[in-house]
Amino acid sequence: MSSNQFDKKSEAWSALFSEPMSDLVKRYTASVSFDQRLWQADIAGSLAHADMLAAQGVISAEDLAAIERGMAQVRHEIEAGSFEWKLDFEDVHLNIEARLTQIVGDAGKRLHTGRSRNDQVATDVRLWLRGEIDLILSLLSELQLSLVEVAEKNLSVILPGFTHLQVAQPISFAHHLLAYVEMFARDAERLTDVRKRTNRLPLGSAALAGTTYPLDRERVARSLGMVDAQGHAQICQNSLDAVSDRDFAIEFTAAAALVMVHISRLSEELILWMSQNFGFIRIADRFTTGSSIMPQKKNPDVPELARGKTGRVVGHLMGLITLMKAQPLAYNKDNQEDKEPLFDTVDTLRDTLRIFADMIGGQLNPSTGLKEGGITVNPQAMEQAALKGYATATDLADYLVKKGLPFRDAHETVARAVKAAVEHACDLSELPLNVLQSFHPQIDKDVYNLLSLRGSLNARNTLGGTAPEQVKAQLARHRDRLK
Ligand code: ARG
Repeated sequence: MSSNQFDKKSEAWSALFSEPMSDLVKRYTASVSFDQRLWQADIAGSLAHADMLAAQGVISAEDLAAIERGMAQVRHEIEAGSFEWKLDFEDVHLNIEARLTQIVGDAGKRLHTGRSRNDQVATDVRLWLRGEIDLILSLLSELQLSLVEVAEKNLSVILPGFTHLQVAQPISFAHHLLAYVEMFARDAERLTDVRKRTNRLPLGSAALAGTTYPLDRERVARSLGMVDAQGHAQICQNSLDAVSDRDFAIEFTAAAALVMVHISRLSEELILWMSQNFGFIRIADRFTTGSSIMPQKKNPDVPELARGKTGRVVGHLMGLITLMKAQPLAYNKDNQEDKEPLFDTVDTLRDTLRIFADMIGGQLNPSTGLKEGGITVNPQAMEQAALKGYATATDLADYLVKKGLPFRDAHETVARAVKAAVEHACDLSELPLNVLQSFHPQIDKDVYNLLSLRGSLNARNTLGGTAPEQVKAQLARHRDRLK
């Protein structure tokens, strides 16, 4: 066969095909417009496969050298933007192989020995996703660090904690931010776990049943870095499963959807906090836009969009999981539909995490060594809000319990005191002692320490609580963990 017989895709299969595809069907079946982003993984996988074929004596050393030379040129052309991606070659795999064969001739045609696009694409997607997971893990750390830094800068700030969006109890602002650090830390754990199952080698499974060539799959796994923490090669153990498994993509998207859900909850709070009615924070102008009609507006577009994009990523999870439902073994072309949702999930998550780390924590000013342009906190507004809504009522009940009342009775007594305070339009701490004593004679003047915001916080000094001592301990733990 001369190399120019591989100029069109239909000729890439065989002479079996008696009619060409229409342009519409060509576009319908092709993936090259989106899967070309896998090119680096595709070349890496091919080089590892070729190296192993030569080591096993399946291809000659000369063929390997030609493949390596040709692939270097392909890489160069793609990087330079001069590589011509052709719809006729359907996908990234056939495009690269066709160009390789154009450059080096028969050696290029030997590359596909003992391999199918089925194990090839599964390998490529895994390799690519592994790199993206690593990047996302580092972005998750950066976002956590931003939150930790803002928490440290605002250690003494108090805001109302809410349940049902009704003022519940006063809490430390740092404690509130650290709740998100916990979420993102769990996200990182989940992604680290997904990475383990992503980093396994399908190559060597060929189309579905394995291959007749004496392949050394362990060698390929090692050269692609598909090893566990102990250095054991990670290889898919069943050829049918290897070519059809997309669990890793679903798991990744599920973990990504959960990150976005956490981002979305944070967004919702940022949006509330920066509304005029709260006035707790400001975000830098570069994350807001104005209104074309109302000159006074600064809208929180970035957090709103992040909240919206969460729906899109959750949708990708539904798309992927439904894609796999009812597919018979082994590979089916349905699987080509895994790429766009997966790619868009990665892009959306990556951009969102980058923007949020900056929006919360700001950017490093190299001349001062400090971060600038993160969220601005208004401690007075937060504290004023915490003083509304009888946030320390539970503290009064706890006080009475310590004097011997059963909690339920204390609860009822305080409810009556709150009712009186509401009628007088004042806070519990503003009721005179004789009025408080009219609800229970054992109330003494030391009660006023507890009815203050700081007294209420200090009293919640159990592990994981909002007392300053606990919050400082958590900050130290996160600092240490994120080093
Ligand atoms: N472009 C294809 C995909 O993304 C590659 C695998 C094609 N395999 C096949 N037997 N048609 O899934």
